[in-house]
Amino acid sequence: MSPKIIRPFHLDITPKDRDYLHGALDDILDSGTLILGKYTDEFEKAFAAYVGTKYAVSLNSATSALEIQLRLADVVDRKVAVPTNTNFATVAAIIHAGGKPVFLDMDASTFMPTPAMLEGAHRIHPDLAGFVCVHIGGVIAPDMLEIVEYCGRAGLFLIEDCAHAHGSVLQRKHAGTFGVSGAFSFFPTKVMTTMEGGMIVSDDEEYATAVRSYRNQGKRAGNYNALHVDLGNSWRMSEFAAAFGLSQLKKLDAMLDRRASIAKVYVDCFESAGIAYVSTGHMDRCSNYKVIAVSPSTDVDIKSELAKDDIFLGGAVYDVPCHRQPVFSALSKQNAPCPISEQMCPRQFCLPITSSMDVNDAHRVANAVKRVLQRSPS
Ligand SMILES: Cc1ncc(COP(=O)(O)O)c(C=O)c1O
Repeated sequence: MSPKIIRPFHLDITPKDRDYLHGALDDILDSGTLILGKYTDEFEKAFAAYVGTKYAVSLNSATSALEIQLRLADVVDRKVAVPTNTNFATVAAIIHAGGKPVFLDMDASTFMPTPAMLEGAHRIHPDLAGFVCVHIGGVIAPDMLEIVEYCGRAGLFLIEDCAHAHGSVLQRKHAGTFGVSGAFSFFPTKVMTTMEGGMIVSDDEEYATAVRSYRNQGKRAGNYNALHVDLGNSWRMSEFAAAFGLSQLKKLDAMLDRRASIAKVYVDCFESAGIAYVSTGHMDRCSNYKVIAVSPSTDVDIKSELAKDDIFLGGAVYDVPCHRQPVFSALSKQNAPCPISEQMCPRQFCLPITSSMDVNDAHRVANAVKRVLQRSPS
């Protein structure tokens, strides 16, 4: 029998989930309420309860969630620090909101900027307005509280990009609760999905009202009011996407438990083989969206080698740091260099981790990685 193909992504929908979704679709079609109805309301309440915030406002994507957060931080013509090791969307949102990104390099062990890097950028740019922190791979940095403390002391706003970090917790605080607000993504590859979608969480009632306005063409007083008060957009989530989110949220903890058991096999493998990786040991819980490891050899193409064994890796986070993306080349010319990201990003690899895998699959992947790296010249 040929071995199971191990893929980087898996849509976790059981027959029971399908029954619920078919029923929800019928219910939505019968009601004629396709947006901003009872499923959206229920999903927002359930997500806020899960994260532990007072409010959660659903959106069509995390990209729009980030842009709304930055518009609310009033970044027009102001500088905003952002890790260069992030998704294009984090940086683009700053520009779409009218701000000027300042790239921060990363620490080689956490793959995130340190508080010292943020402080250094603030010294170079005394007019810095704030920082968009990204919980890369779902990891909340061990020095997160220092970052929170520095932003508070220095008068910088702190926004969280939690696109990877559903269910990630540090010192009993969920991702999304360290700054003014957190932005989550429900893109299909994330640990839970609504097909496309995003969510902003916050404890501030006025802030949540403003987010609702921005997602709905700037109607502060609600859908049935004719006045457009904010320069909003069409950034709503559909009722069916919200129903999808509800069914995923119900089993998020179970999906995260499965991911954690696979991550443990990988971490044990990295430890025994002396492969460096980004640790989550300081956290109460990690989403394990990605387990980031660093190849000891630049001569081996781990992705292609593992593909020969029917093991397919998804994207790393990230192969190309944002300051090296062609679209941001003009920006990066004005930026301080980011040598650690340049050195580490191309060396990282992220093994497949999905809730369709079991620990036996994970051992197969781990053994294949060891074989490939032992063969390679170091
Ligand atoms: C770190 C990060 N931020 C933002 C986004 C944008 O999310 P979305 O696709 O929901 O707009 C992504 C998407 O992959 C991401 O990885």
